[in-house]
Amino acid sequence: MPRRAGSNEPRKTLLLTGASRGIGHATVKRFSAAGWRVITCSRHAFPEECPWGAGPEDHIQVDLADVDNTVEAIADVRERLEGGALHALVNNAGISRRAPTASA
Ligand SMILES: NC(=O)c1ccc[n+]([C@@H]2O[C@H](COP(=O)([O-])OP(=O)(O)OC[C@H]3O[C@@H](n4cnc5c(N)ncnc54)[C@H](OP(=O)(O)O)[C@@H]3O)[C@@H](O)[C@H]2O)c1
Repeated sequence: MPRRAGSNEPRKTLLLTGASRGIGHATVKRFSAAGWRVITCSRHAFPEECPWGAGPEDHIQVDLADVDNTVEAIADVRERLEGGALHALVNNAGISRRAPTASA
């Protein structure tokens, strides 16, 4: 198992859905800074302009509202883990209603 840089501890792996923006994106940055490998998921491809070096090879493009696509993505996750453990799942993908609501 790969080790964390500067540490004897094995590097932990997080699977994070809804990683491309908002709370998910902030969570990627937080766990990456703490030395975790983060496998990210969202409907869009990894953006070319994103400076995160480990991003493209650990990003899975998936629409989690599509069952068949989700099953394919699960197989992809298993492959990427190469028999290693998944230590955490943050299932954050969803629809955020941030628009102001009409007052009653
Ligand atoms: N912000 C808040 O105040 C708040 C409050 C309570 C709960 N929440 C919940 O917290 C989560 C994150 O909120 P946020 O404000 O950070 O949301 P956001 O900015 O809208 O981000 C949503 C994320 O989910 C991904 N996503 C959406 N539908 C998807 C699908 N079908 N398949 C795969 N990925 C999908 C989006 O990426 P793509 O567009 O690339 O797919 C994006 O990365 C949501 O579940 C939201 O309901 C938020």
